[in-house]
Parts: sequence; C-alpha cells; structure tokens
Amino acid sequence: MKVLVFGGTGFIGNRVLRKLLDRGHDVAAFDINPALPAYDQDFQSRVQILRGDITLMDDVVEAMLTVKPDHVLNLAYLMGAGDPHLGVRLNVLGMDNCFEAARLCGIQRVVYASSLTVYGEQLNFGERPVVEADFRHGKGLYAASKIYNEHQAEWYSAAYGMQITGLRAAHVTGWDKVRGSTDHVKCITEPARGKPVEFPFRDAMRLPIHVSDVAEIFSRLVEDDASRHPVYNSGGNGISMGDLAALVTRFVPDSQITFAQETGGRDASSIWLMDNSRWLDEYDYPLPAFEHRVLEMINEVRQDAGLPLIAGESVHA
Ligand SMILES: NC(=O)c1ccc[n+]([C@@H]2O[C@H](COP(=O)([O-])OP(=O)(O)OC[C@H]3O[C@@H](n4cnc5c(N)ncnc54)[C@H](O)[C@@H]3O)[C@@H](O)[C@H]2O)c1
Repeated sequence: MKVLVFGGTGFIGNRVLRKLLDRGHDVAAFDINPALPAYDQDFQSRVQILRGDITLMDDVVEAMLTVKPDHVLNLAYLMGAGDPHLGVRLNVLGMDNCFEAARLCGIQRVVYASSLTVYGEQLNFGERPVVEADFRHGKGLYAASKIYNEHQAEWYSAAYGMQITGLRAAHVTGWDKVRGSTDHVKCITEPARGKPVEFPFRDAMRLPIHVSDVAEIFSRLVEDDASRHPVYNSGGNGISMGDLAALVTRFVPDSQITFAQETGGRDASSIWLMDNSRWLDEYDYPLPAFEHRVLEMINEVRQDAGLPLIAGESVHA
C-alpha cells in the first residue's frame, strides 16, 4: 500500500513514516519543512519527500497526483493558540484542501488528527472518563478548529461516501517534542538532563500518551480501508504534574522539580479521564505501561546528552 502523510516530517509524522515503512508500505511525506530529524537518517532514502504547502490547493492536488497514494493521513497543523489568520488557513482550509483533493483524485481513505481539546475541561464531565459521543465543550481557536475539522470530515464522508476517520489524541509526549503542550515533557526531560524545572501547579492534570503509541494508532487507522467509527479517543495515562514529578524522581532521585503552587490547576485542566474502549475493541492495541515510556524518554535524553543510562529495575524497587 502507498500512504501519503501530510505533516510527515513533524513530531508524530516522522514516527508514523518509520512504522509504515517497517510494515512494508510505500511511504511519501508532504511538508512545508522537508527535513526529517537527524535520528531518521537511516530511512530517509526510502521515503519520497515532497516540499509543499497544504494551504495551497494546487500543491495538495499535485502531491496526490504525483504520489498516487492509496490512503492519506493529515498531520499538518498549527499547534496551540496561534495567529488566527494562519490558523484558519492551515487548520481549516488545509484540512479542506486535503479532503477535497482526495475526493478529486479518487482517494477514499483519509485519516486526520483531532485532539482531546475538543472536550474542553474535565470539569465539564465530573470525575468520569469522556466517550466519543460526549458533547464537545472545547473553546479557543485550536479546539474550535479541531471541532470544525470533525464536521468537515463528517460532511465529506456523508456526501461522497469517503472513509474519513479522526483520532482525538491526548497529550502526546516524547523526548523531542517542542510544540503544543510541553510541561509534561519538560517534567521528564529537564531532570533527565540534570536541570531544575518549575511548574505553576502541582495539582494540574495531564493525559500523556507516548508518541510511539500515537504513531501506532495513526498507522493502524491509515492502513485500514475503513473504520467502524468516525472518531476515536486515543486514551492515555491521567496523572497530576505532582505525581509525574514523583514518578520521574523515582528514576532520577536528584531531580529538582518544583511547583509555584500546590493547588489551583486542577479545575482548569483539560481531559484526564478518557475512555478508549472504542479503539481497543476494534484495533486491540492496549497502551504499554506509562512508567516504561517515562524511563524510555529519560534514557533517550541521557543518551543524547552523553549521560549514563538509568536501569529499568529501579522502577519496581
Ligand atoms: N502533539 C500533541 O500533543 C498532539 C495532541 C493532539 C493532537 N495532535 C495533532 O497531531 C497532529 C500532528 O501534531 P505534531 O505534534 O506532529 O505537530 P508538529 O508541529 O510536529 O507537526 C506538524 C507538521 O506540519 C507541518 N506544516 C506546518 N505548516 C504546514 C503547511 N502549510 N503545509 C505543509 N505542512 C505544514 C510542520 O512542518 C510539521 O512538520 C496535529 O494535527 C496536532 O494538532 C497533536
């Protein structure tokens, strides 16, 4: 199968490329930044990389006609709350260009990234896991764009019989993440480098999921010709920043993680309880234990910095 990944050189995208290549697929990446990270040099020659701008319909159609993919994945996005002019062009028009070009080129299967932000704060739901049918309370440009993307996908699927599927990804974490939510990342990577780090609230809640796991979910969705549902929750590991700091400190005992305030972050926190049984029932990929992923991230950072690695046994001590 041939897969074209828009935003393919990004944080999640480059991991998806590797996974699809490992499973024997032909893979092409379309990105405004055509450079893969240095750690991907081993497979760069096996990926067709096209430099292009998803906000330009001509670029998108040309890429689809050049690559002739069987399936498409769209990860190109403006992370966080950015400039609305660029946000609308990239996040709304870019998604439309992707769906419309796929339709024009006869490509039925498109997968795209939605986000846990569509739900808004956990406070809207009390202490229960959200399910995909829950009301989308998300506010702000990023969440509104993701909600709008879901409507776009629904419309194209209904009007043209396309198989468009979205993943509501939680807080994706990984040692080299630099855009979007990064406090849960820095809480792991800064102590791993031996650096002090401070956060506003110990009780702020996060729902981290490791980037390898999100890449696995996207890969499985895009390999499939169709999914049973229009959107899936990724799930993740609900944890407070304080408990994450404690977990990191178990691995790196001299961690210097401080909080400006003990409380005040919980009510403003986005979703930390997310039901992913829809995903598990259909694709059977339970998430690996989060603490193993944390140790992996610590050691990736330490290897990069030339520091001694931390042994896994200490987790269970
Ligand atoms: N990282 C997270 O925590 C997270 C959580 C939920 C959902 N998501 C979603 O997953 C998707 C991928 O996120 P990511 O973390 O890999 O982000 P990223 O910023 O690392 O990747 C986005 C990619 O899009 C590319 N891009 C930007 N403008 C472009 C343009 N005009 N044309 C073509 N390419 C362009 C960037 O160069 C980048 O490679 C996004 O839709 C994001 O909203 C991410």
